[in-house]
Amino acid sequence: MIKIHKTMKYLSMVLVVLLAGLSNTAWSKDFRLGLLTPPTHIWTKAAEAFGAELNEKSGGTHTVQVFPARQLGNEAQMLQQLQSGALDMAFMTVAEVSNRAPDFGAFYAPFLAQDIGHAARILRSDVAKDMLKQLPQQVGVVGVDYGMAGLRQILSRGEVNSPDDLAGKKLRITPFDPILDFYNILGAAPTPMPLPAVYDALSNGQVDAIDMDSELIWKLKYYEHAQTIVHSNHMMFPMVGLVSAKVWAGLSEGDRAMISEIMRKHLGGVLDTYVEMDPVWIEQVRDTGKSFKQVGPEFFGDAPQKWDEIWSKRSSMLSQIREVSVSTAN
Ligand code: BEZ
Repeated sequence: MIKIHKTMKYLSMVLVVLLAGLSNTAWSKDFRLGLLTPPTHIWTKAAEAFGAELNEKSGGTHTVQVFPARQLGNEAQMLQQLQSGALDMAFMTVAEVSNRAPDFGAFYAPFLAQDIGHAARILRSDVAKDMLKQLPQQVGVVGVDYGMAGLRQILSRGEVNSPDDLAGKKLRITPFDPILDFYNILGAAPTPMPLPAVYDALSNGQVDAIDMDSELIWKLKYYEHAQTIVHSNHMMFPMVGLVSAKVWAGLSEGDRAMISEIMRKHLGGVLDTYVEMDPVWIEQVRDTGKSFKQVGPEFFGDAPQKWDEIWSKRSSMLSQIREVSVSTAN
């Protein structure tokens, strides 16, 4: 009896040692990463490059299967999947995240960034990075780092000489509150619509205008259905690399460090690409021969100020992010 007892005790000790060892061991894992952008988009390419490098650096232990173009659902659905652990990772607009964590709405303060390089510096700031720390508690995801798309412009099927020309006009927006408020203040009729629906809606006149970046105005040929491009650079459009907090909790320290380092590198590459290419796409859009109006904050009257009045109550980070904007300006 004593012998059986001793054997059991020994076996349970061995089990404890084995389990302790396993929690620090890299389990082989097939991660799934979702995005809304099409397969050729810079975000999707960066996600694939991240997956390839993780596979290589983990000695083939980990793989990442990338699901672009909303194959796993829209961003709201992908965020739910991340929360439940059904999805491992996503490269997602901060717009969607700001629907759950309003502090992130501060990034959409009109004319926060003077140009695309300034937008990247704001996103690389310590204040911006610190904000990611609230995501596990508040949203159930780990925010690894930021990427972005280009600054926002307005493309219209009709002539636009002042915001009055947008009054009552159905203007496509990405579905999130900060941009909805901006166009409501301007008196337009903002129409939330996910990216894949935009081309048809613009070409068949379901919307009169769209809020969009220069890359997609150029590459997806939205300009073909426009009379006017208002080059306003009125808002930034950050993206964030996310890992499900549930999935993260089950990873070893070593895997967390490896994933963070590689994902950060590729998100940083996305920032660099936009800094380099945004001015090039704008030139290409200008060269289409469409009516091209270069405007600044004054074009929008007191709308930026009114936006700040609303969002200073909703985002506790607005004044700090405005300070970062000042300290990182050229
Ligand atoms: C948009 O909704 O306009 C958008 C979403 C992702 C990347 C670029 C643009």
